[in-house]
Amino acid sequence: MKTEIHFTLNGESIEHEVEVNKTLLKMIREDFDLTGAKEGCGAGECGACTVIMDGRAVNACLVLAVEAEGCDLLTIEGLSGDQNELDPLQSAFIENAALQCGYCTPGMIMTAKALLNENPHPTETEIKAGISGNLCRCTGYKKIIEAIQSVADQNKA
Ligand code: FES
Ligand code: FES
Repeated sequence: MKTEIHFTLNGESIEHEVEVNKTLLKMIREDFDLTGAKEGCGAGECGACTVIMDGRAVNACLVLAVEAEGCDLLTIEGLSGDQNELDPLQSAFIENAALQCGYCTPGMIMTAKALLNENPHPTETEIKAGISGNLCRCTGYKKIIEAIQSVADQNKA
């Protein structure tokens, strides 16, 4: 069974018919070809599927697409501006070599984005707590934390 929902996706107003049992992650990836958000565990454990919904980081694998009704959604694809310039977090991840395979990276960056929106000057402890729901199996967390810290430091400047 399908139903029509309305939401904003990366700044664009959308009307969309979606299966009532489809997850937000599957809708974003399959219906809109926005494949930055990844399915890792599919169970709320890894954070690879993180997107921002009404300003909050959510695990899109745990949210039904129909719950997006009336919401403002931001995915990693929506972070770059009209001129396709990188978001400061994306640049910082590159400059700090904070990724290897990249599977966790979109989710990690969206979690960091929501964290910095809420708290522009987090301490290292707050950054660690903020990304505690995002798993990275290859980079280790040191460079990821340094990348996020560097953007937090720019926010202070
Ligand atoms: S795929 Fe959603 S938390 Fe792992
Ligand atoms: S860069 Fe490979 S899982 Fe994080």
